[in-house]
Amino acid sequence: MKALVTGGNGFIGSTLVEKLLHQGHQVTCLVRRQSDLRWLQNLPVAYSYASLSSGEGLEQAVAGMDWIFHLAGATKARNRQGYVDGNVTITRRLLQACRPQLGLKKFVYVSSQAAAGPSLAGVPCTETDEPHPISIYGECKLAAEKEVLSLSRELPVVVLRPPSVYGPRDRDILVYFQNVNRGLVLVLGKGDQQISLVHVSDLVDGIILAAEQSASNGKVFFLSGDGYYDWNTIGREIAAAMKKKTITIRTPLWLLHLASWAECAVAQLTGKPALLNADKVREMVQPGWMCSNQAAKQELGFAPQYTLAQGVRQTSRWYRENGWL
Ligand SMILES: NC(=O)c1ccc[n+]([C@@H]2O[C@H](COP(=O)([O-])OP(=O)(O)OC[C@H]3O[C@@H](n4cnc5c(N)ncnc54)[C@H](OP(=O)(O)O)[C@@H]3O)[C@@H](O)[C@H]2O)c1
Repeated sequence: MKALVTGGNGFIGSTLVEKLLHQGHQVTCLVRRQSDLRWLQNLPVAYSYASLSSGEGLEQAVAGMDWIFHLAGATKARNRQGYVDGNVTITRRLLQACRPQLGLKKFVYVSSQAAAGPSLAGVPCTETDEPHPISIYGECKLAAEKEVLSLSRELPVVVLRPPSVYGPRDRDILVYFQNVNRGLVLVLGKGDQQISLVHVSDLVDGIILAAEQSASNGKVFFLSGDGYYDWNTIGREIAAAMKKKTITIRTPLWLLHLASWAECAVAQLTGKPALLNADKVREMVQPGWMCSNQAAKQELGFAPQYTLAQGVRQTSRWYRENGWL
């Protein structure tokens, strides 16, 4: 198959590109002139410099493609407009370029669990639940999903919602590994927030399955690993994988808000988006982020391979080998 991947140089995108190439597909990565291409170096991929922001060159970029994997998105932004531009507008532009195209076999949009919102009353979210995003990021991912699904009569589209993704090359959950390396497990409050997780390798398997299955057309799927975990358990698993003795430090909520406020103040001065912005904090304080992978298992044949223990062991090994720990 001929595949166009947006966001192909990022954490999830580059893992997807490797797997597509491994399976014998032909891959074009849509990147920006300033994109860091370190994960794609030495891979036999073509590049497109079409612009998702202006639309320039997009019709040529999508022409003749069998699969389009749309992973490009702003996970952090300075303000609401940044999230809208970086998620909704770029998705609309890409879809507009695809509309007149004949022969596209699948447009796969990688959305997020944030579009669905947190799990309520300790019950994992399913695809039939009414979305209730609580962050601007989540609202924008949901708005982008709607753009995609509104074309489901004209185009074979599918929307995928991963929960938090971990694995080699990830820089977000890396922080927990770094803390464990220092002998610390930092948890918020009691650390009892229950979450879903997915290893990046399992996620990209699911993304490719969703492209292959015609039964996925017009549908939404959560792609999460098996099981639900609280942060005490995740910390313990990371410590076991790294063979580290740790002490657990419980961070009170007020300290989280203070840290966020300080980081946002610095971000204002530097002009860069803060990692721990108010949006992120709102997500962190929810009681649960659990989602069910039953529909993906039944309808796509999704079969996550990594247990949490195996996943964090493989990830910590990669961090060490690459000097990230
Ligand atoms: N990581 C997670 O835990 C997670 C969970 C759920 C959903 N997701 C979704 O998965 C997707 C990939 O996430 P990731 O973790 O792999 O993030 P990432 O490593 O930050 O990669 C994001 C990619 O999107 C590209 N991009 C962003 N805005 C763009 C634009 N306007 N034009 C062209 N390219 C643009 C970036 O290109 P540059 O390098 O040029 O900036 C980068 O390649 C995102 O849509 C995210 O919302 C991620």
